[in-house]
Amino acid sequence: MRSKIVAGNWKMNKTLSETEVLVTELAAKLPDTDAEVMVAPTYVNLVGAVRYLEGSAIEVIAQNMHFAESGAYTGEISADMLLGIGIETVIIGHSERRSIFGETDEILAKKVIAALEKNLRVIFCFGEELEDRKSGNHFNIVSDQLKDGLFNLKPEVWSKVVLAYEPVWAIGTGETASPEQAQEMHTFIRRTISNEYDDSIAENVSILYGGSVKPNNAQEIFSKPDVDGGLIGGASLNADDFIAIIKAI
Ligand code: PGA
Repeated sequence: MRSKIVAGNWKMNKTLSETEVLVTELAAKLPDTDAEVMVAPTYVNLVGAVRYLEGSAIEVIAQNMHFAESGAYTGEISADMLLGIGIETVIIGHSERRSIFGETDEILAKKVIAALEKNLRVIFCFGEELEDRKSGNHFNIVSDQLKDGLFNLKPEVWSKVVLAYEPVWAIGTGETASPEQAQEMHTFIRRTISNEYDDSIAENVSILYGGSVKPNNAQEIFSKPDVDGGLIGGASLNADDFIAIIKAI
């Protein structure tokens, strides 16, 4: 059975001391929930966050990693470095990595393979731009992103893959996909995976929605049967908002 997940992507926000304040508050206020709860602070604060959250059910995850084992890649972080500090999950392919940092489908496919080879769990992000949606091309874009990023994977590694559908026009804009639009795309994603692999992989993969999920819209989005949780940006930076979103699931 697929798990419910609420993950907070902090992006380039929060110093170490701010990280301590936020995770301590989250740990204290965390409600009883069946959902997995994760937070993704920036690299330099991962060690601290892991330490502050010792004994808590909140998992600390990474926002990105490089595909190489090690070597001359100034400024980059490897899978082993993440594993070495107790990180077991990594976000790959966030739209900001694609659009601002030029990460192509080819680079992302290599990152996914490198992470899975090290037994890290991967949250793979993808989603269409506004023009794609306006021109009715959003299903093609999403199916190409899935194909290029993931369809070279062996069936057995899919248990370590989580998907995050994040329409780019909804990220950080305050505009969300309607619950119906999210459900429609998540159904399409499951069908695409089922056609490429089989029903059991499609049914067991968690598909998160991301893009301006807030306390006031989370419950409606999460109520859709193919939406298994959310990847939360802005609203995960405030403890009460993030806790309200966790309660909504
Ligand atoms: P947002 O970000 O919730 O601020 O729109 C979502 C994301 O980028 O994962």
